[in-house]
Amino acid sequence: MSRITIDEIRRMKEHGEKFAALTAYDYVTAKLVDRAGIPIILVGDSLGMVVLGYENTIPVRLDDIIHHTRAVVRGASRALIVADMPFMTYQKSPEQALENAGRCIQDGGAHAVKLEGGVRIAPTIEKLVRSGIPVMAHIGLTPQSVHQLSGFKVQGKTVVDAKRLIEDASAVEEAGAFSVVLETVPAQLARLITERLSIPTIGIGAGVDCDGEIQVVSDILGWYTDFLPKHTRRYANLAEAAAEAIGRYADDVAKRRFPTEENSYRIEESVLRELATDRMREDEGCRDDR
Ligand code: KIV
Repeated sequence: MSRITIDEIRRMKEHGEKFAALTAYDYVTAKLVDRAGIPIILVGDSLGMVVLGYENTIPVRLDDIIHHTRAVVRGASRALIVADMPFMTYQKSPEQALENAGRCIQDGGAHAVKLEGGVRIAPTIEKLVRSGIPVMAHIGLTPQSVHQLSGFKVQGKTVVDAKRLIEDASAVEEAGAFSVVLETVPAQLARLITERLSIPTIGIGAGVDCDGEIQVVSDILGWYTDFLPKHTRRYANLAEAAAEAIGRYADDVAKRRFPTEENSYRIEESVLRELATDRMREDEGCRDDR
């Protein structure tokens, strides 16, 4: 099957086809997500929290994203792969953004990049798109601005904030983004933005009316359990299953139930006999030396 294109993502909105997107950070997960037919895989900077154990996404480096993007690209042959540009890799200038987005595409193998920000980042989006790099925008709760936003809060609740978000959405569309993530935005506002835009909105904590939905794979699989955001749903309890399996393994080793003959490799008896003969000769040699 051929790779999903940004035109196909755009057409999904035109046809009213709701789609799922997921994050992935490694080869095995990317394979599973791809096999499920999910059209977009985001190598999110949520990597910093759910894989690397940081408190937030701010410490993530460009090299981290590139390294994990490569693994995801090896695992997924159909999904469009979007690399999330980390904090301070695109904010300084459109030129800085172009250089680093270029690395995500050229070194990482991604097919598009994601940038956080609306009006203020629109000139940068325009520069990347003009240079041939597809951009997924991200507005609302933008985790790289967690300190500026004074925490992980719902965005766009007042008239002023809601108007700002609507402006952000229009700005990224005009700048040429092929889609926009709406994170932690009131459902009614997300619906309004979705109706106004011709590009697909992809919600996370943005109600039921976005064109697509994106989630962090480790949340929906119950793999990352430090906290469970309200906007997610657990479809499995992998961490629990893994903890139980690791415990049984440790117990089996301690009680000599694992490994067994079944897990062992053997050599021919003739080789063993030869080894024993060599040993005897060595022992005799030692005695003669005394
Ligand atoms: O980094 C990430 O996983 C994201 C999604 C939550 C959209 O940006």
